[in-house]
Amino acid sequence: MKIMPSILGANSLELAKEVTRAKEAGISGLHIDVMDGHFVPNLGFTAQNVKDIKQNFPEMEAEVHLMVANPEQMIGDFIDAGADTIEFHIESTTNAYHLIQQIKKSSVKAGIVISPSTPVSVIMPLLELVDQVLVMTVNPGFGGQSFIKEMIPKVAELAGIKNSQNASFEIEVDGGINDNTFTFAKEAGATVAVAGSYLFNGNNFHERLSRLI
Ligand code: DX5
Ligand code: ZN
Repeated sequence: MKIMPSILGANSLELAKEVTRAKEAGISGLHIDVMDGHFVPNLGFTAQNVKDIKQNFPEMEAEVHLMVANPEQMIGDFIDAGADTIEFHIESTTNAYHLIQQIKKSSVKAGIVISPSTPVSVIMPLLELVDQVLVMTVNPGFGGQSFIKEMIPKVAELAGIKNSQNASFEIEVDGGINDNTFTFAKEAGATVAVAGSYLFNGNNFHERLSRLI
C-alpha cells in the first residue's frame, strides 16, 4: 500500500522540516489539501505552496486534493505549479469530463474524489478515464476527524469494478487513517492511503509509517 502523508497534519511553521522528516522516513509523495472556504468551511494550501514544495523537493510527488467550488478556475494554476496529480470532487463540478481531459493533456495524473454522501454509481462513466479514485473516509475540510467505516463498502465496490474491467486506477482513501482503520481499507482493496495527523502528530513518524504497510 502506498502512503501519502497529508501536510495539512504537519506543523505549518516548519513545513520544510516536516517534508524532510517524511522524506527521511522513505516517503516519495505528499498529499496537499486545497480548500476555498466555500466548498468546505476551511482554507488550505495554495498553488504557491505547491510550487515552493516542488522547487525545494523536486523528487517529491505532489498530489493536489482540490476541495473548491469551480475547480475549473484553479486547475491551470496547479498544473503550472508542478502538481503531479490533481484530484477534484465530483460534487464540485458539472464539467468532470472536460476537467479530466484538461489535467491529462498536461501530462498530470487525474483523480476523481467522492465525498461520504456520494455513491460510486455517480462516477461510473469516469472510471475508464481517471488515474485514481479517492474515497473520502471523513467529511472533507479538516484533519484529525474519525474514520467513517461505512465508506468501506465503496472501496470494495470500486475494487470489484476495477477487477472485472481489468482497469488500473488507484483506489485511495483519505481521512481518519491510522494503524487500525488502515487495515479495513487495505482489506477492501484500497491501494493508496492518505494519512495526516496520525503520521505528523508526535515525533515518531518513521515508526508510525512502518505500522502502515
Ligand atoms: C480532509 C483532508 C485530509 C486530511 C486528513 O478534508 O482531505 O487530507 O488532511 O487528515 P487526517 O489523516 O488527520 O484525517
Ligand atoms: Zn485530502
